[in-house]
Amino acid sequence: MKTGIQWYFLPLNTQLPWRCVLVVSVIEQLAQWHNSTVKAAMERLDFIPKITLFLKQRCFRVILVCLSLCIISFSIDREMNADVVCHALRLCKQDPGQPLCHLYSPPKVSWFPTFLKTTDCGRYFKMELSSLKAFITLRGYHWRGRDCNDKNTTVYPVLLPTLSLLQQGVDPKDGIPYEEKFCKDSKGVVLLGDSAGAHFHIPPEWMTVTQMSAKSFANLPMAFSDELDWPQFSEITGFLNSTIGGWTDSLYLRLRKRNRCNHRDLQNISQNAPYLSFSLARNQLLDNPAIVIYATIGNDVCNGERDTLAHMTTPKEMLSNVVQALRYLDSHLPNGSHVILTGLVDGRFLWDNLHDRYHPLGQLNKDITYSQLYSFLDCLQVSPCSGWLTPNETLRNLTSERALQLSNVLKEIARSEKFANFDIFYMDFPLRQTAEEWRKMGGEPWQLIEPVDGFHPSQIAAALGTAITWQKALREWPQVLGKENPFNDQIEAIFKDQGGY
Ligand SMILES: *[C@@H]1O[C@H](CO)[C@@H](O)[C@H](O)[C@H]1NC(C)=O
Ligand SMILES: *[C@@H]1O[C@H](CO)[C@@H](O)[C@H](O)[C@H]1NC(C)=O
Ligand SMILES: *[C@@H]1O[C@H](CO)[C@@H](O)[C@H](O)[C@H]1NC(C)=O
Ligand SMILES: *[C@@H]1O[C@H](CO)[C@@H](O)[C@H](O)[C@H]1NC(C)=O
Ligand SMILES: *[C@@H]1O[C@H](CO)[C@@H](O)[C@H](O)[C@H]1NC(C)=O
Ligand SMILES: *[C@@H]1O[C@H](CO)[C@@H](O)[C@H](O)[C@H]1NC(C)=O
Ligand SMILES: *[C@@H]1O[C@H](CO)[C@@H](O)[C@H](O)[C@H]1NC(C)=O
Repeated sequence: MKTGIQWYFLPLNTQLPWRCVLVVSVIEQLAQWHNSTVKAAMERLDFIPKITLFLKQRCFRVILVCLSLCIISFSIDREMNADVVCHALRLCKQDPGQPLCHLYSPPKVSWFPTFLKTTDCGRYFKMELSSLKAFITLRGYHWRGRDCNDKNTTVYPVLLPTLSLLQQGVDPKDGIPYEEKFCKDSKGVVLLGDSAGAHFHIPPEWMTVTQMSAKSFANLPMAFSDELDWPQFSEITGFLNSTIGGWTDSLYLRLRKRNRCNHRDLQNISQNAPYLSFSLARNQLLDNPAIVIYATIGNDVCNGERDTLAHMTTPKEMLSNVVQALRYLDSHLPNGSHVILTGLVDGRFLWDNLHDRYHPLGQLNKDITYSQLYSFLDCLQVSPCSGWLTPNETLRNLTSERALQLSNVLKEIARSEKFANFDIFYMDFPLRQTAEEWRKMGGEPWQLIEPVDGFHPSQIAAALGTAITWQKALREWPQVLGKENPFNDQIEAIFKDQGGY
């Protein structure tokens, strides 16, 4: 698996332009919607300061604080779109020999309005940036490459205790531990994957001004502390009802229903997979076997480089990376575990279903399509996937071709490699069946894609995918799921429903 720095945590300097354009667009649209000046709109909306306060220790602070200041002090004219403002603030700039990046149609006014060259704003911005830098250095975090991602790199995953009440209790009547009595064939769930597996999601209500209120931002602190991943709703480790649209269905919930001993035995270690796969918290002798979902989905062919094809994982690299990871798993998983490799998705689905639709930011004025968004991100070299999010059909085809080759490598590994402590299976990413299933339910294909980034699978796609994966496992590899536990009712009677988590 590729060392996929998550798209969202690319270095700050590459993130500033699009974040700036996004924030300014939202502010401008708010003013438009409330028929007020930008300044008045911001004063009326009391949630903005709260956000700023919360984001004090985050990169957004630089943008929000500076922008609010600049916008308020200069009362930006509405004729100027967000591209112009961000260029004026020098948050967006055109490097020599590079194209000029813009989200909106090129503006009628000059790119560099003279009044914004006034030094106050620039000085303030520089001050903010250096204090942020100092703050990060002070706390010993890496500034370069990992900006804004201030997790302790040595304790990456937030691992759950795998213990549950059930595993500790003893039946008072006969002194036999409950676990011995009730629990056979228990399994834990482990996900190794990328940001799609952790369920990356930016709520569209944060940028849809027509529906915006303080309530739209209620989930903001939590969303940012989880770095915009929502594993609690994801297709593998989800355990709470979705609050981000769709519904929750997960391998964990299904396994737990099948055998109530599988309670709370889940690990969401999906971010930045290569590091995390080396911190699997499983005790080979004491723990129950695990079902490991090894999901690559798109990281290996997705990058934002200009020469994207040259930066994709080759089949040879894929073979070596995956076999290495599997060897590691073999030395850490309890005997009797299972590994399911899932193939890469065919990302042409994204362009085909979204390119001429309006992005949430473009809905108010019907002025930003996904095609425009993709080109903007691509121009800034922060596209989550240059190979698929492009008008160039040849390139989209070539990207899919590579994805297919890599899936075939996985398929071949599952067919030919043998491991001591687990058996191994391969399945295609169930996109086709998911789309089919959703169509039957009366849905549209675009609803299967995250509206804000136009890239990740949506909550609906995740939940439908779970059902499809589960059915396939039940049919073809029932040993992976284990037997239904005949003591389920008894367990529930004694321990009550402790909630999924
Ligand atoms: C917006 O404000 C302007 C000036 O205050 C006013 O003329 C106009 O009627 C207002 N429009 C709406 C839709 O309220
Ligand atoms: C990170 O975690 C490790 C292990 O728990 C600890 O030893 C180290 O001090 C932590 N570093 C920081 C910067 O918190
Ligand atoms: C998963 O990780 C997030 C943070 O990344 C954490 O808040 C959460 O409690 C973890 N566990 C589960 C089961 O989601
Ligand atoms: C979701 O909510 C329903 C009722 O609203 C409840 O029956 C169900 O157990 C909940 N599911 C989860 C995973 O919490
Ligand atoms: C891309 O692939 C599709 C499906 O295989 C094919 O119909 C189309 O002609 C290809 N387009 C280009 C430009 O290669
Ligand atoms: C489309 O992509 C292919 C492959 O990268 C490239 O050779 C071709 O020049 C591109 N076409 C256009 C119009 O940019
Ligand atoms: C794992 O268990 C199987 C039987 O369930 C046994 O045949 C095999 O030798 C065990 N492997 C190891 C490494 O203990």
